[in-house]
Amino acid sequence: MKKICMYFFSGTGMTKYVVDRLSAEFERHHLSVDCFKIEDASMHHVTLSEYDALGIAYPTHALNAPKIVINFVKSLPQSNDMNTFIVHTCSSENHRANHASSNLLIKKLSKRGYRVFNNQLIEMPSNFAHKDSEAEVINTLKRADKRIPHIAKSVVALKSHLANNSFSSKKVLPFLARIQWLGAPIT
Ligand SMILES: Cc1cc2nc3c(=O)[nH]c(=O)nc-3n(C[C@H](O)[C@H](O)[C@H](O)COP(=O)(O)O)c2cc1C
Repeated sequence: MKKICMYFFSGTGMTKYVVDRLSAEFERHHLSVDCFKIEDASMHHVTLSEYDALGIAYPTHALNAPKIVINFVKSLPQSNDMNTFIVHTCSSENHRANHASSNLLIKKLSKRGYRVFNNQLIEMPSNFAHKDSEAEVINTLKRADKRIPHIAKSVVALKSHLANNSFSSKKVLPFLARIQWLGAPIT
């Protein structure tokens, strides 16, 4: 693997924090990395076939990938089995349904011919519902900083890392939570 293309969405910078560090790790592995904001995707002409892998990064929103990320994936050109990895951030890794927030995204990517081999959930400070204390923020960032090199290593090695999301609450809760998308055009 020589060249990686990453697209990311980050509402308040936590996912960007992960993407920046992940890119630096890939570069340490002598890979070249191009990163694009999903909201600016239409401004760049990117030929994905020139890359060896595609990365998608996003924050978990109501147990799902944000709609902007799903819509972006729907606009991707058809691929022939491109190696694809996902990194999604959340405010609590302990909630089992967060692990399934990529289910729909993976389905859409597969439909367009992208082969998701690695899907990582990484806990970051919360930007909703509750405010972490300063000590919690520091600890969460320390844990993330420790994990990112391992995530990069497993992506570079094309290691399969896919959660078992067969447990029914993991499937049903993200599906039900998509009700919030109905309000997205209003906000
Ligand atoms: C509208 C909204 C919904 C969220 N839903 C969840 C959720 O379902 N589960 C979770 O663990 N965190 C949730 N979060 C927290 C974010 O996923 C988390 O803080 C993330 O790291 C923020 O990344 P960002 O700064 O790149 O947007 C939500 C945040 C927002 C703003």
